[in-house]
Amino acid sequence: MSSQEDKYSVLLPTYNERENLPLIIWLLVKYFEQDKINFEVIVIDDNSPDGTLDVAKQLQEVYGKDRIVLRPREAKLGLGTAYIHGMKHSTGNFILLMDADLSHHPKFIAEFIQKQREGDYDIVSGTRYAGDGGVYGWDLRRKVISRGANYVAQILLRPGASDLTGSFRLYRKDVLRKLMDVCVSKGYVFQMEMIVRARQLSYSVGEVPISFVDRVYGESKLGGNEIVSYLKGLLTLFATT
Ligand code: GDD
Ligand code: MN
Repeated sequence: MSSQEDKYSVLLPTYNERENLPLIIWLLVKYFEQDKINFEVIVIDDNSPDGTLDVAKQLQEVYGKDRIVLRPREAKLGLGTAYIHGMKHSTGNFILLMDADLSHHPKFIAEFIQKQREGDYDIVSGTRYAGDGGVYGWDLRRKVISRGANYVAQILLRPGASDLTGSFRLYRKDVLRKLMDVCVSKGYVFQMEMIVRARQLSYSVGEVPISFVDRVYGESKLGGNEIVSYLKGLLTLFATT
């Protein structure tokens, strides 16, 4: 397939992102249009109590149903299954995963695409932990948790990628489908399992340094429960890979 025919489906899972959604979608449309790239944004809202879905519907009116696709679910079913759900409804041959809270800036997408084309990679992963990458706005606790999670996982799993828990990534759709078939985790550990399984299956991974900026509006959904399930997931991966 020539690059002119490539289509990029952005999967945007949302839970209480009413204030962030208009800006992230505006930026996505702006950058894709600027670079004349064929795209769609798939919003997977899990019945957010703040009315995110109503905002998404308004944005769909503004930008069109072919570019903003809504695939809501009945309840908060977790990030991993939100991606699976979104992928099933995607029409692109490439899939981008990113957060909706502006921590992942759409300006990096052009670099992801360029990197993918350069090395014909199966996956391009944004990295906070190499090159010019970094994290801005997190308190020490969050930094230690993230670094620690990465560090322990690096030692146990040796996955050959510098940012295991980050979720700003570009996948070939057939590769993503295959990985989702073999991945068992549902919560935050999902990002790490994806990249570990990718290596097992000998997929190629390119990296692009990104700056991750903490959200201004709303709250992180990463709580104590998620940390416990991350550790469980990590150990399961260690035992089974
Ligand atoms: N549909 C849906 N369902 N969306 C969800 C759910 C859910 O159960 N939980 C979270 N989200 C959405 C949020 O609305 C946001 O767009 C994105 O998923 C990330 O959630 P945050 O709550 O903002 O995550 P974070 O900032 O704490 O964590 C980020 O950093 C982690 C560690 O590096 C994310 O990038 C994680 O994926 C990453 O593992
Ligand atoms: Mn966030």
